[in-house]
Amino acid sequence: MRTLITNGTIVTADGSYDADVLIDGETIAQIGRDLAGAGPGAIADDTIDASGKYVIPGGIDVHTHMELPFGGTSAKDTFETGTRAAAFGGTTSIVDFAVQSRGKSLREGLDAWHAKAEGNAVADYGFHMIMSDVNDDTLAEMDGLVAEGVPDFKLFTAYPGVFFSDDGAIFRAMQRTARNGGLIMMHAENGLAIDVIAQDTINAGITDPIGHGLARYSVLEGEATNRVIRLAQAAGVPVYIVHLSAREAMNAVRQARDEGLPAFAETCPQYLFLSLDDMGNGFEGAKYVCSPPLRPADHQVELWRGLVKDDLQVVSTDHCPFDFEGQKDLGRGDFRKVPNGLPGVEDRMDLLHDGGVVAGRITRERWVAITSTAPAKLFGMYPHKGAVAVGSDADLVIYDPNRKRTISAASHHMNVDYSCYEGRVVQGASDVVLSRGSVIVRDGQFTGKKGHGKFIKRATADFARMA
Ligand code: URP
Ligand code: ZN
Ligand code: ZN
Repeated sequence: MRTLITNGTIVTADGSYDADVLIDGETIAQIGRDLAGAGPGAIADDTIDASGKYVIPGGIDVHTHMELPFGGTSAKDTFETGTRAAAFGGTTSIVDFAVQSRGKSLREGLDAWHAKAEGNAVADYGFHMIMSDVNDDTLAEMDGLVAEGVPDFKLFTAYPGVFFSDDGAIFRAMQRTARNGGLIMMHAENGLAIDVIAQDTINAGITDPIGHGLARYSVLEGEATNRVIRLAQAAGVPVYIVHLSAREAMNAVRQARDEGLPAFAETCPQYLFLSLDDMGNGFEGAKYVCSPPLRPADHQVELWRGLVKDDLQVVSTDHCPFDFEGQKDLGRGDFRKVPNGLPGVEDRMDLLHDGGVVAGRITRERWVAITSTAPAKLFGMYPHKGAVAVGSDADLVIYDPNRKRTISAASHHMNVDYSCYEGRVVQGASDVVLSRGSVIVRDGQFTGKKGHGKFIKRATADFARMA
């Protein structure tokens, strides 16, 4: 099957230009002007007219939680519904977090996540590994996972009693990645101190979701971020901070990078477009409970600056959807029991196009960089993914930068009963989405198939080591 995309503007992280793209099977075969020559039928079976549209590499969301068990329930999107929703929003690859349960092996956790995804995902997927126990056995297992294409490991200074690791455990895991080429990803909040403050907050009679936002001080994200960066410095390894939300954490990353350290970080749309105020409307605020929490709006300017200056390299979603009815309401009367996480995998590209490019905060090339190319490079997928180049996977989006749409739970494809952005009008939308050469979304219709998505066996984070 050969598909020709004509008359589009190719937008990459490095620049933009007008050209046609010829896809042969699953990969990009040719890029150039007037490829049709004697007529599109001569070289292609299908032609997509991209006049007035962008042709961009498919979005890559390196932080999702399909079916994550959390707080006595599980995130609602499966690999089928989640990758389908992602595709509608122009994201053609996800990297999800497999979970090692306490007392079990990494292998068991990874196998369980393979079983959830294989035969179900409609677009490609990879895995990071959440390590709940760092011990001699799991440290040894890390080497095998790196070799089989799961080269990064998320550890937590948050969630005591669940995912929390102490500094010694984190340092041991970092030392291991110095030898095996893996990358440590850190959820950096001081969970021990936060639990004390959360108890004080409950004791003071604040039980609504706003308590979650008030108790998780931003300074405790800054402290933990600096601490894990310094642990990585001591171990001589790069480190990647996930879901960075706070000015203090941004300062810690910027300071480290100014010193020349290989510290990397992502933020998420919720920290750029939502704020602590969203958590204040009684129990409705449960819709916005995630960790780190939404911050006062004045933190956002620092995050945008970080994205412009490359102190933040990636925007991922931390997509972790729980219904408001029946899941979030487990926390009525005690905000600590609200399952942590927000839906977002479908809206990332459009929110960032609208609030970033259209709003004049970032260029369209930077938009492609932070949503596709940088994640591909940092997470061992480049140039198969994250590029519009001959030989790359034909994961492509024909993107209309002018079309407006209204975000709503009534029309979204994520398997969750609310939207954090209900009623927000965004400019920019995906018209046609291709995954490895197959059209999986066209003009608002899903045309892909369950099981089309393949496991992405990823390389080690060499880009992070060369930075
Ligand atoms: O609130 C969040 N972020 N839920 C998902 C788990 C995590 O910490 O990433
Ligand atoms: Zn986290
Ligand atoms: Zn997460």
